Amino acid sequence: MTDAVDVRTAVGAVMDPELRRPLSKLDMVREVRVDAGSATVQIALTIVGCPAADRIERDVHAAAAAVAGIHDVTVEVGVMTPAERTALTERLRGGRAQRVMPFGPESLTRVIAVTSGKGGVGKSTVTANLAVALAQRGLAVGLIDADVHGFSIPALLGLIEDDGLPPQPTRIDDLMLPPVGYDVKAISIGMFLPRDAPAGGAVAWRGPMLHRTVNQFLNDVYFGDLDVLLLDMPPGTGDVAISVGQLLPHADVLVVTTPQPAAAEVAVRSGLVARQTGQRVIGVVENMAALTLADGTSLDLFGSGGGAAVAAALSTDDETVPLLGSIPLSPALRSGGDEGRPIVASTPDDPAAVALDAIALRLATTGRSRAGRPLPVSRA
Ligand SMILES: Nc1ncnc2c1ncn2[C@@H]1O[C@H](COP(=O)(O)OP(=O)(O)O)[C@@H](O)[C@H]1O
Ligand SMILES: [Mg+2]
Repeated sequence: MTDAVDVRTAVGAVMDPELRRPLSKLDMVREVRVDAGSATVQIALTIVGCPAADRIERDVHAAAAAVAGIHDVTVEVGVMTPAERTALTERLRGGRAQRVMPFGPESLTRVIAVTSGKGGVGKSTVTANLAVALAQRGLAVGLIDADVHGFSIPALLGLIEDDGLPPQPTRIDDLMLPPVGYDVKAISIGMFLPRDAPAGGAVAWRGPMLHRTVNQFLNDVYFGDLDVLLLDMPPGTGDVAISVGQLLPHADVLVVTTPQPAAAEVAVRSGLVARQTGQRVIGVVENMAALTLADGTSLDLFGSGGGAAVAAALSTDDETVPLLGSIPLSPALRSGGDEGRPIVASTPDDPAAVALDAIALRLATTGRSRAGRPLPVSRA
């Protein structure tokens, strides 16, 4: 005789596709009745018109129908009460009833802010690919696009919808669910612009507004338990760098530069400013290094030595800042970015992808998680 407990167990194991937790853990399964092989299952969604509603309903139906002895299933979809929703968001925030920033010094998540002296050096491209490479190696990865003036992370991760815009995160009250691309949970200012904003979303940002936005990304986005949180910083040493320095003084900083000696000086400055706020410069990545051509010659469009020069300039008597790697110029890296297909996933044999993955591995194995253990990296 099939009873309601079996159906409840089966339905409770269905995953909420956005929250990525089983419905039983989210208190979304209400009454379950079984009458002569006929099951009626009541579920409560977080919000009306929840985008994942159809999928959840389908999965619940399938899960109940798969229980032995059930030949007929009715799914009744309801919505949580405000009180239930508050209880849920508090639970998702880890029982932090009051606002405590989840990435503070107590956190087990390693925070890495990726910065550069100037724009166009490939910082966002490098950040997106490092995030995907770390996720491919089994880490739980979040990515905050803090480059409010030139956000590009949604496009780099293929998170662009049919209307050409990034998706809008689902909200459960004041908790936002980050869209996921290549297993990376990503949040970007581009997801919050008015839908009719001009292309590129030209918005005049003031310092306090920037600070509030970064603060909100850190506090009100449901990333869950992350191993690594990457931040794609705006180039230079402006308001966002200062806000991030204040909000995340224990963050590690990765400096991206080109091999061009002229770019080195501004790159060094961005590292020094980060260090002034207490952040640690963990390394330098050189991008757009020499490309080896089919005939074996090499094309060094941007010269050479910039990465090593920046690393040397940022090193002190107490601390050596390493050059973590050099990523060659790569047509595939560029086109993969344009198409929203990160090359570490789509073309892992490309020399730039190999270099990026090696840097990701170095980051994961040389850094320490806040618990003092190396991060749990598995070979993809
Ligand atoms: N190693 C590389 N080889 C070829 N093109 C690259 C490389 N790195 C970045 N690019 C391209 O350079 C441009 C600027 O990169 P982007 O990541 O947007 O820079 P930033 O974030 O520093 O402004 C993009 O078109 C990107 O595809
Ligand atoms: Mg960028």
